[in-house]
Amino acid sequence: MSALLDIPLTVVRPAVAVALLGTGVVGGAFLDRWSRLSGLGLLGELRLVHVANSRHEVGHAAGLDPGGVRDELPAGRAPMLGEVGVGLPEGSVVVDATASDDVARWHPLWLEAGLRVVTANKAGVGGDLARYRAIDAHRAHYGDSATVGAGLPLLRSLRSLRAGGDRVHAIAGVLSGSLAWLLDAYDGSTPFSELVRQARRRGLTEPDPRQDLSGADVLRKLLILARAAGRDITTADVVVTPLAPAALATAPLAGLDAALSALDEPLRRALAAAAADGRRLRFVARLDADGGARVGLEALAPDDPLAGGGGCDNRVSVWSDRYADSPLVIQGPGAGAEVTAAALIDDILRVGGG
Ligand SMILES: NC(=O)c1ccc[n+]([C@@H]2O[C@H](COP(=O)([O-])OP(=O)(O)OC[C@H]3O[C@@H](n4cnc5c(N)ncnc54)[C@H](OP(=O)(O)O)[C@@H]3O)[C@@H](O)[C@H]2O)c1
Repeated sequence: MSALLDIPLTVVRPAVAVALLGTGVVGGAFLDRWSRLSGLGLLGELRLVHVANSRHEVGHAAGLDPGGVRDELPAGRAPMLGEVGVGLPEGSVVVDATASDDVARWHPLWLEAGLRVVTANKAGVGGDLARYRAIDAHRAHYGDSATVGAGLPLLRSLRSLRAGGDRVHAIAGVLSGSLAWLLDAYDGSTPFSELVRQARRRGLTEPDPRQDLSGADVLRKLLILARAAGRDITTADVVVTPLAPAALATAPLAGLDAALSALDEPLRRALAAAAADGRRLRFVARLDADGGARVGLEALAPDDPLAGGGGCDNRVSVWSDRYADSPLVIQGPGAGAEVTAAALIDDILRVGGG
């Protein structure tokens, strides 16, 4: 009780408004998880007020039903990306569950306007350096743990090492869940192209698997990790050796299935050479101590930390002043809609304070 006013003192916390962009695989899992957690009373003062995909948007200041909003969307307005932040009170959270560069372009503008941004979209901090720096100026209000390792404690570990005065010397990682699955499953008994078809059917690759096989996704993730480690590198600083040969990279989408067999002979030869030395094939991203950076197929010794694990696991080794001889190793499921959605909600709770 307040001695002065003689009335109960209650802390009234305003609701934190949340806008979701993207209702695909990750956005859908996000809505399912939001429903579940809010039913358990775990989302505090968070309120979902706006949901959009590339075709429609719906909004309601009093809150939307996360379970039913996907049914409401087709009757919604055409989306106005530039309007998303308008009307959202300062401190509201915009969640980017798209892969859109147009959406990522808004991240620094929303932050500048006093909003928080939480993202699975790598085109923000993995985009050009000017965009990254504009975002990084608002680091405390930006949640990007879903961009690399689907919420594994990678970025936060690198940042806390640096905050504690450590200097990161080098990073090596298996950063693509789909390539990890493919290379873990490949023992030569089934052609590599057939494994790619299986992975595609199971939703483990992008709809066009060349986005995985080109190394472009891993390149973006390496940029994000390197920048979190204090090295502001760009795509021009990274040597990328794609898994897909040129004949596959240039094949029209309609003929993609047949063109996948261009992978078989190079992968068969790489596997035979690796097996002759008792090594394992992995698609690895490296930031070297001398400043070099590269992405490509490697044959690793079986006791290399990056050679272990299984399935879609991501694995990252970090060498620093503190971990100079033996690296810090972080490993776990680094792909999948559920873990990614969980990472987004964890980040909202951190930056939105819900
Ligand atoms: N899938 C995973 O396991 C995973 C894991 C980690 C990170 N990620 C990242 O998460 C993001 C989403 O992946 P996803 O698998 O969910 O992709 P997806 O299924 O293709 O969904 C993308 C969503 O973004 C929407 N969208 C595109 N442009 C938009 C715009 N301008 N405004 C509003 N919405 C827009 C699309 O709208 P329409 O429905 O109208 O097409 C769609 O709903 C990507 O950046 C991906 O790299 C995915």
